[in-house]
Amino acid sequence: MVKTVADQIAHDYAGRQVHMICVLNGALFFAADLMRALPLDCTYSCVQLRSYEGMTSSGRVEEVIPLTTDIRDKDVIVIEDIVDTGTTMHFYKQKLLALAPRSLKVAAMLFKPSQLQYPDAKPDYYGCEIPNKFVIGYGLDMDGLARNLPHIYAVTQSTDE
Ligand code: IMP
Repeated sequence: MVKTVADQIAHDYAGRQVHMICVLNGALFFAADLMRALPLDCTYSCVQLRSYEGMTSSGRVEEVIPLTTDIRDKDVIVIEDIVDTGTTMHFYKQKLLALAPRSLKVAAMLFKPSQLQYPDAKPDYYGCEIPNKFVIGYGLDMDGLARNLPHIYAVTQSTDE
């Protein structure tokens, strides 16, 4: 997945400098591997996001750790662990576009197309499409745990109570 995404970005941005925004906590491992696989000049910053879905379905996203880098006129790529409903990326992209980057794309490790509620949140680059399963490992958590597993696993529901 790292190579798939890195090769596409390297092709599309050849000769340009990109600014990566790593979305903590989930994208940490993927972002670190992706940036090391990119034969491009690259700067990066990290943010932490929390998304809410309001009663009126007007979701919004809050920056728990905010972006402190000026991205005006920069080619920006947001690195996400997984795009599920797309709520987080839909609202975060709007926030970033207001900061006037030269371009803005999203690179996600995983993408669950069956769950997507916001078409504009479909990642421009992604490593793999997956069905609607809950996955853990390689940065993805379940209640804060399992992020440090070196591989990705689908969680199966236990019928034991
Ligand atoms: P979205 O806003 O619905 O696209 O969800 C984005 C966030 O939900 C991701 O960045 C993850 O933190 C979390 N998430 C969605 N699906 C999974 C999963 O299968 N495993 C772990 N976290 C997930």
